[in-house]
Amino acid sequence: MGKFVIRGGRPLSGRVRASGSKNAVLPMLSAAILNAEPCTVIDTPDLKDVEVMLDILRWLGAAVEAGFDPRSGRGTITVHARNLKTHEVDEHLMREMRSSIFLMGPLLGRLGHARVCYPGGCAIGPRPIDYHLRVLRALGARIEERAGFIYAEADRLVGCEVHLDFPSVGATENLIMAAVLAEGTTVVRNAAKEPEIVDLQNFLNAMGARVRGAGTDVIRVQGASRLGPAEHAVIPDRIEAGTFMVAAAGTGGAITIENVIPEHVEAVTAKLREAGVEVEAGAGVVHVSARGRVRAVDYKTLPYPGFPTDMQPQFMALASVADGTSIITETVFTNRFTQAEELRRMGASIKTEGYTAVVQGMERLSGATVTATDLRSGAALVVAGLEAEGVTTVENVIHVDRGYEALEVKLRGLGADIERIA
Ligand code: UD1
Repeated sequence: MGKFVIRGGRPLSGRVRASGSKNAVLPMLSAAILNAEPCTVIDTPDLKDVEVMLDILRWLGAAVEAGFDPRSGRGTITVHARNLKTHEVDEHLMREMRSSIFLMGPLLGRLGHARVCYPGGCAIGPRPIDYHLRVLRALGARIEERAGFIYAEADRLVGCEVHLDFPSVGATENLIMAAVLAEGTTVVRNAAKEPEIVDLQNFLNAMGARVRGAGTDVIRVQGASRLGPAEHAVIPDRIEAGTFMVAAAGTGGAITIENVIPEHVEAVTAKLREAGVEVEAGAGVVHVSARGRVRAVDYKTLPYPGFPTDMQPQFMALASVADGTSIITETVFTNRFTQAEELRRMGASIKTEGYTAVVQGMERLSGATVTATDLRSGAALVVAGLEAEGVTTVENVIHVDRGYEALEVKLRGLGADIERIA
């Protein structure tokens, strides 16, 4: 497994482009199996998780073509799911990625059957799927769990009203996708409001679905009888952009990030400003400029538009070098402070108890050998390595590759001294 070797202490400067959003493109690719006509997604990021999703689609019998848009040079993927040959997702592929649970809704909607196994993915605490199963049952699916597999079937899914206990991103997406070909209208209350859900709505509507309300907490889906060919450009990755923003702040740098929707990074922007960092938003760009050491700030993760849990680890790397004490509260996932132990190896002073971490900012971190245990904790260690004095080796960067396209190449473009060792 590869590693990054980082010689830290250089302020980042220059321009970088955020890629298409991982968390938007994954549900879109699985939604493409609802449709017997071809669906094209533009500005797809080149990521391990996307590769696994394409392997799953091929396994199911879809024709998949990944290439480049000749006009923009950006990645494009076309999925043509005219002839699906199975409703059973391969166990090994499924275990490689948690997001494969998204396939249940589309498979049920299209074929009336789905067999999946308990999904894999990040080691950030137990990731139950009870909400997913509940919403699919509400649409009329019969679901049984046997020997590690989940079997679902329905002669016809029928629209329903669901009130989610928690605005789960994945359960909201699964329900919307399953409802697209259901009979009648489905109403989801306390729906997740993440921008990726709005993007999924736009993609589904481009193929002729009738989804309204995404981005608010009530989403309505009117069942459609048939879908048509679609083309859709995916939104920029707000977590990747946020990671660059924090890395610029932590190194005392000044950078411009292109291909950002400033509204999508508002929670991170607000916290950076509170920490004394200058953040200016323009049309599709964000400029971040830090002078000297940032001030400590408290933050608490929440569903969108609150502070994203996917930025909590990277921001902890910033808090580690801030002036003062930061209190971090993680309310979305349990066990999401795995980066703390690794940051401590670099000299950070962090105490964690349950859902709270107390970070006493240090003047500087020192380079060390650390290990990424999941995607965002890996990103946090890269940020810490850029901030630190001396050489940091981040091992297990396979986790980082799941969600960041060419991270070391982009960081080198910003003046960082980082190399990948295979
Ligand atoms: C998605 C994102 C992930 C992000 C998360 C929260 C994708 C591919 N992943 O994950 O990057 O960190 O949103 O913003 O888009 N829960 C249950 N039962 C369920 C489902 C979820 O108890 O059936 C719990 C989870 O354990 C967690 C909380 O609900 O504590 C939020 O999870 P959810 O919003 O569903 O996250 P994901 O969709 O898995």
